[in-house]
Amino acid sequence: MSDTAFRLDGCTCLVTGGTRGIGAAIAQDFAASGARVVVTGRDAGQAVEIAGQIGGDAVGVGYDAALAGASHELADWLTREIGSLDIIVNNAAILKPHHVAKLTEAEFDLLFQVNVKSTIFLCQALRPLLAESPAAAIVNITAAGAHVPMAGIGAYCASKAAMINFTHTLAKEWAKHGIRVNALTPGAIATDMILPRDPERRTKFMEDTSTMNLMGRLGDPIEIARAARFLASAASSYMTGQTLIVDGGLLA
Ligand SMILES: NC(=O)c1ccc[n+]([C@@H]2O[C@H](COP(=O)([O-])OP(=O)(O)OC[C@H]3O[C@@H](n4cnc5c(N)ncnc54)[C@H](OP(=O)(O)O)[C@@H]3O)[C@@H](O)[C@H]2O)c1
Repeated sequence: MSDTAFRLDGCTCLVTGGTRGIGAAIAQDFAASGARVVVTGRDAGQAVEIAGQIGGDAVGVGYDAALAGASHELADWLTREIGSLDIIVNNAAILKPHHVAKLTEAEFDLLFQVNVKSTIFLCQALRPLLAESPAAAIVNITAAGAHVPMAGIGAYCASKAAMINFTHTLAKEWAKHGIRVNALTPGAIATDMILPRDPERRTKFMEDTSTMNLMGRLGDPIEIARAARFLASAASSYMTGQTLIVDGGLLA
């Protein structure tokens, strides 16, 4: 296979939660591979700023998945302002630590609203635009906790398991529209989502977490971005309804 199969020249890619961490790495990597990238963040100004840093024809737009109707608003904006779409990377998500004994309904609802419901309705609203693409692909970013649930983050793990399940459903329902749908499961990746802010706690956390996988370290966001590009590009053209695990051997 030639290297061009991994490129995204001429593709328009939506990356939700592209302002930092894994989403930012995906947006930068996709843009460097020739894609026109649309990045979202809750703060529209920040999303526009990040798009400016990416450069080229990258675009930033506000999107808060916690708000009812936000997915349809984003889809309407994309259809109106951009007019074409080849790839969605559903990356935006939240992780709030909670033990089930103390989990509130409001916390549960927010996790599932952001991590599952908004994602599904964004896919639904963008399906007509995506179906016009000759190379349509959806990449859903899930989590190792979907496969092996972890105490203290049960609702988050369940939300990610739901997204793996939905990935299979979407692949089955939308193959006829030429849309490939795959999930990408990162292990522990060094981002704001999991790293403690306090420097001492951060060092200890990184040491402890590194012992949990075979490679003895946390992953870098770019290592997830490259796997996302594989799933988004022609390099994976005969792949749909699958989950790719990139976790340094955490689940081995
Ligand atoms: N880091 C890990 O170890 C790890 C492991 C497994 C899976 N993952 C998954 O990888 C993905 C990215 O995680 P990350 O570590 O890069 O997280 P992160 O650093 O916390 O970044 C999360 C992104 O989501 C956006 N976001 C947060 N709340 C949002 C909302 N209500 N609506 C729309 N966007 C929102 C944030 O943008 P704004 O704050 O600018 O709105 C940010 O760009 C997530 O799906 C996460 O579950 C991460």
